[in-house]
Amino acid sequence: MKVLVFWDIYGRIWRSALKKEIWALREKYNPDFVLVNIDNISSGRGAIEKHIREMEQLDVSLMMWGDHILDNLPKITDYLNSEESKVIRPANFLEQDYYPIAGKWFKIIEKNGKRLLVIHLLGSVFMNHVWVENPYIKIDKILKEIDEDSYDAIVLDFHKEASSEWYAMAHFLEKTPAFVFGTHTHVQTNDELIFPSWVGVIWDVGMTGPLYSVIWADFHSVRKRMLTGIQKGKIEQSLDKNYVVNGIFVEFWDDKKCVNLEKFRIRNSL
Ligand SMILES: [Fe+2]
Ligand SMILES: [Fe+2]
Repeated sequence: MKVLVFWDIYGRIWRSALKKEIWALREKYNPDFVLVNIDNISSGRGAIEKHIREMEQLDVSLMMWGDHILDNLPKITDYLNSEESKVIRPANFLEQDYYPIAGKWFKIIEKNGKRLLVIHLLGSVFMNHVWVENPYIKIDKILKEIDEDSYDAIVLDFHKEASSEWYAMAHFLEKTPAFVFGTHTHVQTNDELIFPSWVGVIWDVGMTGPLYSVIWADFHSVRKRMLTGIQKGKIEQSLDKNYVVNGIFVEFWDDKKCVNLEKFRIRNSL
């Protein structure tokens, strides 16, 4: 089974960057599944339906959110609850009366006779604006609930800030063959690794976004904040036409083992 992963796609210009690069990457890797993160896809905020549909046009298999889950939620609740939804939400987002969360929080997707279980979790450290359940307890429960014979491989997106929390998760799952990847920090890391127990990991896949930026922001809009701690005005997106498309190609054998990881980092301009 082959899977292609793109993460933290940032806003309009960089949706265009993905559209420009994705077909050549599909041809190169010939994936069964393509996974995309839409946490920042609508001007840096959670997705609106129009942009989800744009990703569907790219034949994306499944999309995940992150800490921006609440931003545009009322606008896409019907889509998320529909049978056709290709979006899953974080499994450990704390349900609350003030803002009930729609949609599914894991999914088994099927293609070419292969079945991939995709799970999405939020970290609990330094993610101050979202309330979450303990991610370790949650993943343990999820894996006990789902019949092992119903899928051929597992992918876990752990959207987090703290490297310690993520590395702990990689070890926590060490006996469960899977691909466990971090997202949210926007910078691709050089630490991909396959454990002897066939768990593949990478701390962060990296974003699809503006190359010359402060992980997406225009430096001049955050300059004062860096100097004084006070944000003056809105943080603006960098509109630099140079972009980076980060991602990773993953291969599984039929017995759920993650056997190959190949990250890519394409720099180009629109
Ligand atoms: Fe995020
Ligand atoms: Fe992000």
